Amino acid sequence: MTLGMENHDPAALLQFYADMGADEAMGDTPVDRTRLPERVALFPSPAASVPAAAKPSADAPLGTIESLTDARQLAAAAKTIEELKSALDGFQGLSLKRTATQMVFADGNPQARVMLVGEAPGADEDRLGRPFVGLSGQLLDRMLASIGLSRESNIYISNVINWRPPGNRSPSDAEIALSLPFIQRHIELVNPTVLIFAGGVAAKALMQTQQGITRLRGKWAEHKSDGLNQPIPVLPIFHPAYLLRSPQEKRLAWADLLKLQARLKELGIL
Ligand code: URA
Repeated sequence: MTLGMENHDPAALLQFYADMGADEAMGDTPVDRTRLPERVALFPSPAASVPAAAKPSADAPLGTIESLTDARQLAAAAKTIEELKSALDGFQGLSLKRTATQMVFADGNPQARVMLVGEAPGADEDRLGRPFVGLSGQLLDRMLASIGLSRESNIYISNVINWRPPGNRSPSDAEIALSLPFIQRHIELVNPTVLIFAGGVAAKALMQTQQGITRLRGKWAEHKSDGLNQPIPVLPIFHPAYLLRSPQEKRLAWADLLKLQARLKELGIL
């Protein structure tokens, strides 16, 4: 790609790319990532069947309907959290895996009665292999600590997406759709008493709604899925990264945390 930048020295060109957010070395040969052969429904109906003819051609990029079938089968077959982790590790349907350093699966106590689900790993999580360890994770830890929760004892944390989107871009609808079977199964296997969805991506994807987090936050809802004996109460909250950018919203986030704390006390969790 020249874009009229032939006269720029390589360092300036690199700086230009970094400024534009292209901060990952992806590979030697270009890949047309805009070429998706089929649309993947973000919210497929449970009864949705996959047409037998929907086989991708040999050179089809990842993110196809076949990958979605694969994701659903792999996730459903996992009977333990460890099995789910290795199924996810072996899943070839997400191209994010090729650009990320490692999978970021979960952190905290898998026996905890509270589970929080965020969006996707960022650069720090990608480096360390644990969710929420960067700046927003540090804020999250302080928010949780303020109401008596900590990943060392009584909360379990994961994300909808398990590999870092390059340059911290937002995950695409197809990436979310391909990751959903895994996080839904993850929730079933942990079977927490209370769920927290941090941010709009997690809330929209897992609550199967188009409503934004500003409307959803602070209102208790129910998370249902086939593998659960009963619905799990879920509280959507603002994502800590959003609170770092919009500190004036911390007031609302604090109200939500107090609401959460009251419910956890009622349930004898705190
Ligand atoms: N943001 C998230 O949603 N998850 C992480 O793990 C880190 C940042």
